[in-house]
Amino acid sequence: MNETPAIPTTPPTGRPRNRAAIVIVACLAVLLPLTAWGFYLYYPSGIGPAQPISFSHRVHAGDKRISCLFCHEGALDTPRAGVPPLQTCMLCHERVIITHPEIVKLRTHWENQQPVEWVRVNDVPDFVFFNHSLHVRKGVDCGRCHGDVAAMDRVDMPWALNMGFCVQCHRDNNVSHDCLICHR
Ligand code: HEC
Ligand code: HEC
Ligand code: HEC
Ligand code: HEC
Ligand code: HEC
Repeated sequence: MNETPAIPTTPPTGRPRNRAAIVIVACLAVLLPLTAWGFYLYYPSGIGPAQPISFSHRVHAGDKRISCLFCHEGALDTPRAGVPPLQTCMLCHERVIITHPEIVKLRTHWENQQPVEWVRVNDVPDFVFFNHSLHVRKGVDCGRCHGDVAAMDRVDMPWALNMGFCVQCHRDNNVSHDCLICHR
């Protein structure tokens, strides 16, 4: 009386399986672009080197709209834009999100008067003369050389700041591109 269920000897018609395949393909066709879009929207944009404190330009210059010159005031009247001292950070972070782990780290640096060793991103060789204020005072926007920093979590160099790049803009704007202005 232990009859095993009959094993079908003919394969089922292709139809149901095809329909399942069509449904799966249709789902993938919808889900894959959605996933890609999600990554595009949420993946951090500037992905430069990791920094000792995870400072984000997107948060500060983007969301909170803090002016570039508030932190890089040197760019206006000195050759170097410079990186802000801890004191600038503490103007806000004495009060803002003081229990955030990165701010606890920041405060430790501040209390020990130990500067943060930010990893450098842009660097032209020493034989090149470059001066921020000469550009910024003429109204050349930071973004012309550094890209859309306010959209970057970790600052990167969007393109090489090489001789071709410098000379091209000088040509386009009738600025001297005599060798000796950059190689003194
Ligand atoms: C709240 C302060 C703050 C503001 C506002 C700010 N920055 Fe910065 N910036 C920093 C700090 C700190 C660093 C060093 C850490 C890093 O690279 O993220 C830095 C680094 C940079 C660097 C890379 C420096 C290198 O090593 O070559 C560039 C370029 C830069 N900032 C441009 C800008 C521009 C453009 C804006 C405005 C859109 C801006 N910053 C606004 C604090 C600030
Ligand atoms: C003008 C005010 C101001 C200054 C100056 C400032 N911050 Fe902030 N910072 C903020 C605000 C506002 C937030 C967002 C707080 C929140 O998410 O509620 C923030 C967030 C942060 C965060 C957390 C970011 C995250 O992942 O959400 C870090 C880390 C940070 N700041 C570091 C710094 C450092 C380092 C400096 C100095 C170079 C600095 N901040 C200067 C106002 C400031
Ligand atoms: C004409 C191109 C150009 C413009 C405009 C420009 N920068 Fe720069 N920036 C550079 C170059 C080139 C370097 C690398 C300098 C070096 O290695 O000596 C640099 C370096 C920096 C650095 C690293 C620290 C330093 O001073 O070397 C910061 C921060 C910075 N720029 C911020 C800014 C900000 C903020 C603005 C706008 C107010 C700005 N830059 C406008 C070309 C530019
Ligand atoms: C987006 C355009 C642009 C880019 C890119 C640019 N410059 Fe300039 N540069 C200018 C302008 C505008 C002036 C101001 C000319 C004036 O004073 O009338 C200038 C002036 C200068 C001067 C002073 C010129 C003089 O007559 O003494 C030097 C030096 C210089 N740039 C070097 C550089 C170097 C090095 C780079 C690349 C790292 C660079 N520039 C990239 C637009 C640019
Ligand atoms: C507007 C600025 C600017 C002017 C004008 C300029 N240079 Fe340069 N030069 C640079 C920068 C920035 C670099 C370094 C980045 C690189 O390697 O491209 C450089 C690099 C060089 C190098 C080293 C190249 C290498 O591969 O290491 C030589 C050689 C040189 N320049 C020669 C010249 C000569 C010759 C002229 C005139 C015909 C000139 N430059 C005009 C900005 C300038």
